[in-house]
Amino acid sequence: MTWDVSIASPGRINLIGEHTDYNDGFVLPAAIDRHIFLKLRSNGTKSRCTIKSDGFENTFVADLYDLKPGTEGWHDYVLGVLRELQLLTQGVKGFDCSITTDVPVGSGVSSSAALECGLAYGLNELFDLGLDKRRLIHLCQRAEHNFVGTQCGIMDQFASMMGKEGHSILLDCKSLEHEYIPTHLDSYVILMLNTNVSHNLATSAYNTRREESASALRVVAEHFGVDPSYRSITRGMVDACAGKLGEVLYKRCSYILEENQRVLDAADALRRGDIVALGELLYKSHLGQRIKYEVSCPELDFLVDMAKEEKSVLGARMVGGGFGGCTLNIIHKDEVEGYLKKVSGAYYAKFEIALSHFITRPSQGTRLI
Ligand code: GLA
Repeated sequence: MTWDVSIASPGRINLIGEHTDYNDGFVLPAAIDRHIFLKLRSNGTKSRCTIKSDGFENTFVADLYDLKPGTEGWHDYVLGVLRELQLLTQGVKGFDCSITTDVPVGSGVSSSAALECGLAYGLNELFDLGLDKRRLIHLCQRAEHNFVGTQCGIMDQFASMMGKEGHSILLDCKSLEHEYIPTHLDSYVILMLNTNVSHNLATSAYNTRREESASALRVVAEHFGVDPSYRSITRGMVDACAGKLGEVLYKRCSYILEENQRVLDAADALRRGDIVALGELLYKSHLGQRIKYEVSCPELDFLVDMAKEEKSVLGARMVGGGFGGCTLNIIHKDEVEGYLKKVSGAYYAKFEIALSHFITRPSQGTRLI
């Protein structure tokens, strides 16, 4: 049987700018060379959708006119996209879809956004829906809010859809203005170390952080009578409200302002080709996530602490929502093997969990293949 459309949709890394996207901030992500591959064909029915996945090892059937949250986590990403498409257009009809993947699931490189973007992009092509990438990005984000229940920002979907080979994306999450920054690391490579833990408080803590950062912002903005946006407040204003904010909210909002500045500094460092400065910012970013935003975990901290001891690693930090997943390490290419031996042994000795890894590079976004 032949397929009408084939799509590759990548996961993403984020060099820096964590938890800033839903706070009107800046991020510096890139699509990676790990993909979800989707093959699609129209099956001639009005509304019967059959989705088969090798990676997730099962098949499920959905009816376009009866889309309810599923039982398996990944079904909801598919159903969510279908429902958002149904709300926007009557153009989708019954289809078959076959999915394979080499994106590590649950590791903080957003296999979920890769799936959402790939499916939305593929159906847009298959049924000629006429939606541009910008609309598809927003649609995928809404799918996650409305069906999956994570109040995520725009970074993952934007990076997966808009990635460009050899470049990171400096994205202003308030205006969606973006700049592609060439990301050449000379003799260094991006090594992802996967903790292989995914602490289950991730979704609830994510939504809590979102509420905390919004509450903190309200306090400062009301006090100074400014627009309630992290772009309208300064460090001085936050400090002046320290008493009103209390310790936790003070930490949350100072982290966001600091992380935004680090993103802009990191983009400058990349433009200058100063990867040593970039690396230092990565370490600082992780410290912020660990101490002020409190989204790290012992396994991630252990890996970053070990990296700091290593001359060949210029910088390391957790990537994505936190509470598990991967650390991103900028490491000299000749030292990868030796370091992997050392860090895997130490990690296993401490947590009795096997570390896994992959090397990646900035790659092209969601596309037809
Ligand atoms: C998850 C979300 C993103 C972003 C990151 C944290 O990956 O989907 O929108 O908020 O966490 O930076």
